Amino acid sequence: MIQSYLRMAANKMPVKLVIVAGARPNFMKVAPIFAALAGDADFDAVLVHTGQHYDHAMSGSFFDDLGLPQPKYHLEAGSGSHAQQTGEILKRIEPVLIAEKPAAVIVVGDVNSTVAGALAASKMGICVIHIEAGLRSWDRTMPEEINRLATDAITDLYLITEESARRNLLREGVQPDRIHMVGNLMIDSLRRHLDQALQSGARERLTRPGPYGLVTLHRPANVDNPEQLTEILSALVEISKELPLYWPVHPRTRTRLAASSLPDNIHLLEPLGYLDFLCMQAGSSVVLTDSGGIQEETTVLGVPCLTLRDNTERPVTIDSGTNRLAGTTRESILRAWNESRTSPKQGMIPPYWDGGAGQRVKLVLRSAFLTEGQ
Ligand code: UD1
Repeated sequence: MIQSYLRMAANKMPVKLVIVAGARPNFMKVAPIFAALAGDADFDAVLVHTGQHYDHAMSGSFFDDLGLPQPKYHLEAGSGSHAQQTGEILKRIEPVLIAEKPAAVIVVGDVNSTVAGALAASKMGICVIHIEAGLRSWDRTMPEEINRLATDAITDLYLITEESARRNLLREGVQPDRIHMVGNLMIDSLRRHLDQALQSGARERLTRPGPYGLVTLHRPANVDNPEQLTEILSALVEISKELPLYWPVHPRTRTRLAASSLPDNIHLLEPLGYLDFLCMQAGSSVVLTDSGGIQEETTVLGVPCLTLRDNTERPVTIDSGTNRLAGTTRESILRAWNESRTSPKQGMIPPYWDGGAGQRVKLVLRSAFLTEGQ
């Protein structure tokens, strides 16, 4: 299969790649690809920003912190229902692909920009490369699970972060030689920027002296339903009696929280930039989150993570890492909080989460698109 993508021997043009990013958790995954390809005359990588996230705190600040190149195209798709947002991206990316004629489109993660980029490329017969392929929560009420399934159904090359993904893809009938373990690009960014983050002074700037916990919450299932949100808040209030909590609030959650009155020991913050958030994570005693990527970052940082969900698409963070599923009821969250203190997990870092994922992505690209000896 891979042979079909090999560049013709006579064609010395660089291999054109369109790399799609659009939402906050995409930016730290594409940055290491650009770093790995920088200065390599065999590749011409073009960044397309879909505009799914657009506030400076959700997008622009990440370009600054991660040293990402400015996008060649900004689609400004913006917010909307899933159909509107996905449809806008789909419509707006097609002319870019017609103009650029890439050999491949690279999509990352599981957001609406991921599935829209993959679908537009696939319909045009362009090779689709999915980074972070094969993760499954088995929960189709999660918009991200639909995005993962739909993207992987039309992907050509599957680049995976953990072995559970390989098993899932094989079960779904993907040919083994299309699956490549590259490790975790998000962890490349973490390792590259951790020292800088620790020196950012975010902890001193944003917290009072002493131990603290860090909270993030933005899944529709957790924050859009007032009863569910109240249940989680009631657990957080209880925990905050023992440990001050700092909570950078996602825009989706901000509007939902407006009516709640929270105790002084729960400190609401504006969304943080990449370096500030990394610094806050590294310094925290526990992280309570419903994010996907934060489960992985805490595992590498050795910080206990309580995932406020009933499932995770990243089981390696539970099996090897510091993550625990805490559920979403007051009782289950408080039980997990107590367990995390009485029997802390000695986490191990999963294989290939070593800072070398960008280079491994490049090796896969070379073997897929460049004939030997070129
Ligand atoms: C999206 C992703 C989710 C990811 C999350 C990270 C999908 C289906 N969801 O969820 O997987 O974990 O990003 O943040 O792709 N808003 C702003 N400013 C912005 C962006 C959004 O104010 O820059 C507000 C808007 O009111 C918007 C709402 O936040 O309607 C939700 O944004 P949206 O991109 O639809 O979904 P997220 O919850 O951010």
